[in-house]
Amino acid sequence: MRIEQNFMGASEPDVEVAVEMTEWQLELLACPFEQAPLHLEGKQLRCSACGRQFPVVDGIPSFVVPDLANLHEAHEWQQKQVEMQTRNEQAVFYDRLLGLLLLTPFEVAMTVKALLGEHQRFGTLAEIGCGTGRMLRHFAQYADIVVGADLSLESLRRCRQRFERLGLWGKALLVHADASFLPFRTNSFDAVASCQMIEHVPSERMRERVIAEIARILKPNGRFAISGYHYSLLTRWFGKEGFHKGGIYFFRFTRDEFLRLVGTHLSVQNLRTVFGYAWLASGVKGA
Ligand SMILES: C[S@@+](CC[C@H](N)C(=O)[O-])C[C@H]1O[C@@H](n2cnc3c(N)ncnc32)[C@H](O)[C@@H]1O
Ligand SMILES: [Zn+2]
Repeated sequence: MRIEQNFMGASEPDVEVAVEMTEWQLELLACPFEQAPLHLEGKQLRCSACGRQFPVVDGIPSFVVPDLANLHEAHEWQQKQVEMQTRNEQAVFYDRLLGLLLLTPFEVAMTVKALLGEHQRFGTLAEIGCGTGRMLRHFAQYADIVVGADLSLESLRRCRQRFERLGLWGKALLVHADASFLPFRTNSFDAVASCQMIEHVPSERMRERVIAEIARILKPNGRFAISGYHYSLLTRWFGKEGFHKGGIYFFRFTRDEFLRLVGTHLSVQNLRTVFGYAWLASGVKGA
């Protein structure tokens, strides 16, 4: 069997096996370029409007295609590629990072509460920038259908393994996608979360696009919870903007900056800090 390196370094076995997708999965998905419906053709999804093809790798549709570069400034796209590569390399130990192990139980409780609002559970729930599923596995308890999107295919592969182990894979869909150009139909989700992702999007205009995309895919009155680095007394020593190990870009938000960003397309009802480490904004999409 020949192993091919496809775009973004995902290794894919070169065997002709047809891919299966359920009706509900196809009904949620759309072309990230103009949101037209997609059809399954062998191992690919094909857009009914532009004809672009998107591979399905290990059951994960991949929308991170070279054409996306044309929608970015050169520095934005280059930074996103660094993010992809470093997250792929770090996926294997991400869940064992001590800081996250300590934070996770509190962060899960706060985010679930913020996301639920007055609701008990949701029909469709998505996390944008779900990584290895550290948070998404907990959100999955509150939804009939659970969807995760991330730029790192290796993280998504680990997320899939985790969901299979937990018996959650049957109600899940994971997609390899850029949060600024989401491959989902408009007005599709009852709830959308995004945890510690937006601070890694490398320009203000691309961060605004992420919020616009979250607003677009939410149903009217759908709920959101979005967290991002807090520029606080605790964290200011680590810089306002810069690069983590491996070249991952970050931006820390003041209260006003975070409120302004999320408020561009969504109604923020609640804004709180997670121990001075991250902001957590929640609320609804106006009808
Ligand atoms: C700090 S991790 C958080 C992962 C997960 N939300 C959690 O809380 O454990 C940030 C994640 O955002 C993803 N990410 C960064 N930029 C992205 C983008 N433009 N589109 C989609 N995902 C992105 C990274 O690949 C990484 O998995
Ligand atoms: Zn298309």
